[in-house]
Amino acid sequence: MSRIPIIAGNWKMHKTPEQAVAFVQELAPLIEPYGNVDRVVAPTFLALGAVAAALEGSVVKVAAQDAHWEASGAYTSQVSAAMAQPFVDYVIIGHSECRAYLNESDDNVNKKAKAILACGLRPIIAVGESLAQNEAGETVEFVRSQVSAALDGISADELQRVVIAYEPIWAIGTGRSASGEQADGIISAAVRDTVRALYGDASADALRIQYGGSVKPGNMQEFMSQPNIDGALVGGASLQSADFAALVEIASRVKGL
Ligand code: 13P
Repeated sequence: MSRIPIIAGNWKMHKTPEQAVAFVQELAPLIEPYGNVDRVVAPTFLALGAVAAALEGSVVKVAAQDAHWEASGAYTSQVSAAMAQPFVDYVIIGHSECRAYLNESDDNVNKKAKAILACGLRPIIAVGESLAQNEAGETVEFVRSQVSAALDGISADELQRVVIAYEPIWAIGTGRSASGEQADGIISAAVRDTVRALYGDASADALRIQYGGSVKPGNMQEFMSQPNIDGALVGGASLQSADFAALVEIASRVKGL
């Protein structure tokens, strides 16, 4: 089963609209040649319109960093999937920073995933355990529960548009990444096998699963060499065009589809 690798840059709360546009103008020509990799940038909501306009006609796609499940309503501060839809192909949900600071629950992640799919978009659903859970040996059980909850009520047909990002919380922004083998083992046991149990072999084998957490050019080859890792969700290294381009080049070369 060949799965097209997907590299997504999650810019978090970095880059103003002006900076984001200047950045994609510099980045796009560097990463456009690698046609065997899906390439995605996720600016702040404020920059989505400007970045989407700057990337019009480009193969580089845009993601929102979140989306509310209701199309509109009295939800101060929120942006709906329907509102983001004209500008994006993907929406990141369930990020551990949202789970930690914004009370993102498994139930919310599930409602958001359904809303995103209903808008014709692709959710990138982030899951991952804390350091304490990891050290207590609870990783597989916990991540399995996050995956099952996020996918509740989603059809096999819709699942084809879902990407799951396994991001161990202890590896995010810490410079401390999981080893390739460690990440592959968890992704296989906690993500792909959960999807296998829920949807069967064809769906599980087609699902794209990213690793995230201190991914950089220096460790990218190790992650991309793993059979169950189909790309990366990247924070810090995605803010530099040379690093972002290096990640795409490595994914293209190592996965070599
Ligand atoms: P870093 O690559 O900065 O560790 O961030 C990972 C992440 O949270 C991507 O969503």
